[in-house]
Amino acid sequence: MPSQDHSLTGQVAIVTGGGGGIGRAIALAFAAAGADIVIADIIPQRCDEAAASIRALGRDVLAVPTDAADPAQIRALVAQADRQFGRIDILVNNVGGVSGRPFLEQSERSWRRHIDLNLVSMFAATSAAVPTIIRGGRGGAVVNVSSIEASRAAPNYAVYAACKAGMNNFTRTMALELAVHGIRVNAIAPDYTLTPGLHGNVTGPVDPSTWRPPSPEQQQATRRRIPLGRGGIDTECGKAALFLASPMSSYVTGAVLPVDGGSWASSGWIRNEAGQWTLGG
Ligand SMILES: NC(=O)c1ccc[n+]([C@@H]2O[C@H](COP(=O)([O-])OP(=O)(O)OC[C@H]3O[C@@H](n4cnc5c(N)ncnc54)[C@H](O)[C@@H]3O)[C@@H](O)[C@H]2O)c1
Repeated sequence: MPSQDHSLTGQVAIVTGGGGGIGRAIALAFAAAGADIVIADIIPQRCDEAAASIRALGRDVLAVPTDAADPAQIRALVAQADRQFGRIDILVNNVGGVSGRPFLEQSERSWRRHIDLNLVSMFAATSAAVPTIIRGGRGGAVVNVSSIEASRAAPNYAVYAACKAGMNNFTRTMALELAVHGIRVNAIAPDYTLTPGLHGNVTGPVDPSTWRPPSPEQQQATRRRIPLGRGGIDTECGKAALFLASPMSSYVTGAVLPVDGGSWASSGWIRNEAGQWTLGG
C-alpha cells in the first residue's frame, strides 16, 4: 500500500472533544499524518495541552474552548477556522457522554442533556462545517464517534444507546446526501476504551495519576467478555478514524466500523472460567 494513502498533508480537520480521550487521540493521529487541527473542547486546559502536543508534531492548530452542544459556539469556531486556514476537509464528531441509571429513574433534564451531547453536537458541527468542506470542492470526510451501545440493548444506558443508534443512521443518511460532493461519512463504534471520562476525570486537565487501575475482578470480567481479552486504547480509535478520514478508505462510506476487540461480534458469547466460549456464562 503506498504510504501517501495514509497522508492528510495539507488538510484541515475539526475534532470536537479533541482535548481528551478518544478525540485527543484522533487529533494527534491526524496531526501525525500531516493535517492541521481545529480543537473544539469545552475545557480550556485541555485545549491548551492538546494544542501544544499538536504543535510538537509540527502542525498548526486552532484550539478554542467551545461547547460543541451549542450551535452558535460551533458556528463561531468554524468561521474562525475558515479565516485562519482557508479550508476545512475533515470533521470528527467525537463529543458524547453518558451517565448510567434505569430510564424510569432518569430525569427529563438528564435525557435532554444526553440528546444535546450525543446528537445535537453532531448536528450542529455537521451543519456548520460541511458547507465549508463542500465549498472547497475537493471532497472530504466526516467521522462520527459512535459506540457499540448503538447496536445492542444497553440497560441503564437507554437514552445514550438511542442517541448512538441515531448517530449510526445519521451517518448512513449523510453518506448518501454528501456522496455527490465526494464527502465520505463513516463512524467508528468503540467498546470499553481507557479514557479520562471512563475514569471519572471529566473536569480540569487530563490527569492519569487520578485514575484507579481496574481491579483483578474487573480485568477478569473484561477478559471473559471481550474476545481480544482487554480494553481498548484511545490510539486504536485514532488509527481507525485515520483510516476512515484518509484515502486508505476512498471507497468506504456509510459504514460503522467496530473498534471493540470483537465484542459486538461475540454478541452474548462470553468465556467461562476455563476460558471456553459459552452463551451467557
Ligand atoms: N471511552 C469509552 O469506553 C467509549 C466507548 C464507546 C464510545 N465512546 C464515545 O467516544 C467519545 C469520546 O469518549 P471519551 O471516553 O474519549 O470521553 P472523555 O470524557 O474521556 O473525553 C471527552 C472530551 O470531550 C470534551 N467535552 C465534553 N463535553 C464537551 C462539549 N459539550 N463540547 C466540547 N467538548 C466537550 C471533554 O472535555 C473531553 O476532553 C464519546 O462520544 C463516547 O460516547 C467512548
